[in-house]
Amino acid sequence: MVNNKDNNSSNTQQETTESPSEWKMDRWKYYDVTHKRHMVCNPMSVAKLDDLIELLALNPGATVLDIACGLGEMLTRLAERYGVSGVGVDLSPYFVADARHKLKERVPEAGIEILNMGGADYRPDRSFDLAMCIGASWVYQGHRGTLRALKSMTNPGGLVLVGEPFWLKEPEEAYLLAENHPRDIFGTHYGNVLVGEEEGLVPLYTVVSNQDDWNGYEALQWHTAEKYAREKPDDPDLPEIMLRVAHSRASYLRWGRDTLGWALYLFRNEGGHNGFS
Ligand SMILES: C[S@@+](CC[C@H](N)C(=O)[O-])C[C@H]1O[C@@H](n2cnc3c(N)ncnc32)[C@H](O)[C@@H]1O
Repeated sequence: MVNNKDNNSSNTQQETTESPSEWKMDRWKYYDVTHKRHMVCNPMSVAKLDDLIELLALNPGATVLDIACGLGEMLTRLAERYGVSGVGVDLSPYFVADARHKLKERVPEAGIEILNMGGADYRPDRSFDLAMCIGASWVYQGHRGTLRALKSMTNPGGLVLVGEPFWLKEPEEAYLLAENHPRDIFGTHYGNVLVGEEEGLVPLYTVVSNQDDWNGYEALQWHTAEKYAREKPDDPDLPEIMLRVAHSRASYLRWGRDTLGWALYLFRNEGGHNGFS
């Protein structure tokens, strides 16, 4: 447990890096509040996502699965660009409602179903041309399990896309403690690609967030939470919301910014191992 002040800084404001204890509030409400103004819930710029979407070169009407689809932005952009149909799965009732609303507004003709359930419980009766899971590899117990699961739900010749953090450098013990992370929760950037190859996938491409992308993702949460605090001062969950935001901000600024990277990894499933063919 760490409760500290940045000794290298003249800033007198004390930020907590103490790991917040058990959730008292509804955690999905917390993410809803802090991500109200985000387009996507991961530290990648939308411009880079659009470049990647171009590179996917999907056939018109391709089928797509998005496990932990969040606000549904990737599915919506894929439907706008390629007319894809498919399925999005997410555990947050707030994000599911937002994703459904967004799809209805922007691509009402798209045959995309959004399911409110745990990703690991989703058992499709078909396979997809693109299966993705961006920023939620815990659903399948880590990066390898995620690649394995997505591969099993992808057509031979289809694409697998994951978003996964990686260590930029050896993490400090204090950072692991503050985040309640074991050291092996993440690998390296190279390692994340190698795991895909070990699982029989062909690495096609990676997109890496830069400091600006990460900063934008983090700082928008602080800004949004502060606005919420001014608008809803009587919300009984406000103290917990602000405590969690303060912890996340301090941890990111003190360690995460220089320690953790983030990338999207695109692979091709050359075929063979597929539960549906
Ligand atoms: C980091 S966000 C990524 C969201 C989205 N993929 C994106 O990139 O914008 C993680 C997402 O996982 C969802 N989630 C968390 N646990 C889940 C689970 N067990 N099954 C499905 N979704 C889950 C959250 O609601 C959230 O939308």
